[in-house]
Amino acid sequence: MNILVNDDYASMSQQAAAIIEAHICNHERTVLGLATGSTPLGMYEALIEGHHTRGVSFKQTFTLNLDEYIGLQPSHPQSYHSYMHTHLFSKIDIPLHQTYLPNGTAQSLSDECSRYEQTIDKVGPPDIQVLGIGENGHIGFNEPGSAFSGTTHVIDLAPSTLKANARFFDTMDEVPNQAITMGIQSILKSKRILLLASGENKAWAVKKLMEKKIDDQFPASALHYHPDVTLVIDQKAYSQIQSESR
Ligand code: F6R
Repeated sequence: MNILVNDDYASMSQQAAAIIEAHICNHERTVLGLATGSTPLGMYEALIEGHHTRGVSFKQTFTLNLDEYIGLQPSHPQSYHSYMHTHLFSKIDIPLHQTYLPNGTAQSLSDECSRYEQTIDKVGPPDIQVLGIGENGHIGFNEPGSAFSGTTHVIDLAPSTLKANARFFDTMDEVPNQAITMGIQSILKSKRILLLASGENKAWAVKKLMEKKIDDQFPASALHYHPDVTLVIDQKAYSQIQSESR
C-alpha cells in the first residue's frame, strides 16, 4: 500500500486527478470506478479543468459507480445519479451510455444487484477504482461486519453513516437508510485502487488502515488483500500517524 501525503485538499485532489488523467491519456480505453460524497469533489473539478484546458477527452472512458441510495429516483437531487451528472458527467464529453450506477428504484433489488455485478464484469473491471472512506472505515457502503467475499448487495446504512449523510437532506426522515453497494470482493476486482481521505475526521480511519490489521469490523482493511492500492490524502487525514511518529 503506497501513501501519498499532500499539504492540503486542493493538492490532494490535483494529484488524484493527475493519476487518472495520465491513465486516460495513455490508454485507448479506460474504465473508472467512481465514488460520491464530499471527498472526490475537488478531484472531479480538476478532471473537468483538464478537459477544458488540456483537451483531455473522456469519449473512450467508461464509469462504474460504487453505490446508490435505495428509494431515490435518479432525478432526485440527492441521488448519486444526480451527483455524478452535476459534478462530472454534464461537464465533460463522456457519452452517458458509458456511465453506470446501480438502480436504487429497481422492482427487484436482488435482480438489480446481480445485474450490476455482471455489468462490472462486462464493462470492467475498473482500471482505477476511486474510493473515499467512512469515519467507521466503510468503503463503498460496506459497513463494519460486511463480508469480504461480498459482491453487489443491499445494505442497511450504519447509524454513523446516516448521521454523516444527513447534511445533504432537509430532515433526518428523508435520509435513505439503505443503499445498493458494490461488495468488497467487487471492489477488489479493480486493477488499481486510489483511496482518497481528507480532513481530521478521517485521521482515525487512516491510522487504523495503516496498522495493516485485517478486521471485518474495519472494512477498509480488506484493501490489504489488493496488490495495488494508493492512499492519496492530505496532512489533516495523516495527522494521527504524524503525531505518533514524532
Ligand atoms: C460514496 C461512498 C462512501 C464515501 C464515504 C466518504 O460513493 O461509497 O464510501 O466515499 O462515505 O464520504 P465523504 O467523502 O463524504 O466523507
